Amino acid sequence: MNKVSKKVVVGNLKMNGSLDFNEKHFNQIKIALKDVNTIDIGICVSYPYLFQAQMIFQDSNISWGSQNVAKDEKGPFTGEVSVAMLTDFNSKYAIVGHSERSTAYCESDENIATKFSIVKSKSMTPLLCVGETLIEREAGIMERVVANQIETIRKKYGTNVFKNSIIAYEPIWAIGSDLAASPEQADHMCNFIRNLIHEDKNNSIDDLKIIYGGSVNSKNALQLCGLESVDGALIGRGSLNAEEFIKICQIVNSL
Ligand code: PGA
Repeated sequence: MNKVSKKVVVGNLKMNGSLDFNEKHFNQIKIALKDVNTIDIGICVSYPYLFQAQMIFQDSNISWGSQNVAKDEKGPFTGEVSVAMLTDFNSKYAIVGHSERSTAYCESDENIATKFSIVKSKSMTPLLCVGETLIEREAGIMERVVANQIETIRKKYGTNVFKNSIIAYEPIWAIGSDLAASPEQADHMCNFIRNLIHEDKNNSIDDLKIIYGGSVNSKNALQLCGLESVDGALIGRGSLNAEEFIKICQIVNSL
C-alpha cells in the first residue's frame, strides 16, 4: 500500500483575521518556519485575504488556500467564488466539505463531490473533510458515514480523482470542542479511509494524504501526527495563535 512520507500541516483560520492581524500573523509564521522543510505547510484563509496571503507567502515554504469553492465554473451565482478565481491568486489548497459548511449551509455530499473534482481540474489540492457526529459514533456507524462521503465522490469521478489530494478525518464532535479523538480512534479511522481508497486494485493512488483534524494542539500533536497512519493535521483554533501553530509545525517536522 502506498504511504506518503512528507506530512502536512494546514491551518484553517475560519472566519477570522483582518489585514492588520494577518500581516503580523503571516509574517511571524513565515519567519519562524523558514527552515522547516520536511513537511508541507498551508494556511487556508477567507477569500478577501488570498491576495494578502499570496503577497506574504509567495517567496516562502508556506502555501495558502481557501476554505471553500463554488461547484460551478462561472455564471449567475451571486456570492460564489470560482476555482479559476482561486488560481488567480496561486492558491494551492481548497477545503471542501468542512462540517461547519455542510451543517450550516446544507451542503450535500453530491455538491461536495463536484467541488472536489473542480478543484482537481485546476491542479489545486482539494482538502476533503469527512467525519461523523457524536450520535453516529455512539451508534457505531462512523465507518459507514465516512465511507458514504468518500463513495459519493468515487462513484462520480472514479478512484483516480483522489491522487494528489488530502482527506482529513475530522470527527464533528472533536471540532472546536477540546475533545480530540484519541490516537486509537484517529488511527483506526485513518487506516479505514486508506484501506477503502486502496481496495480498488486497478488504480494506484499516489500521494493521497490522510490527515486528522479536531482540537489538535501542541500538546496532542506528537501523539496524533506521530501515528504512521496519520499524514498530518488540519488545525482550526491552533492556527489563530502564531506561536501555537509554529510549535505544532515544528513538532510534526521533527517526526
Ligand atoms: P479546531 O478546528 O482545531 O478548532 O477543533 C478544526 C477544524 O475545524 O478544521
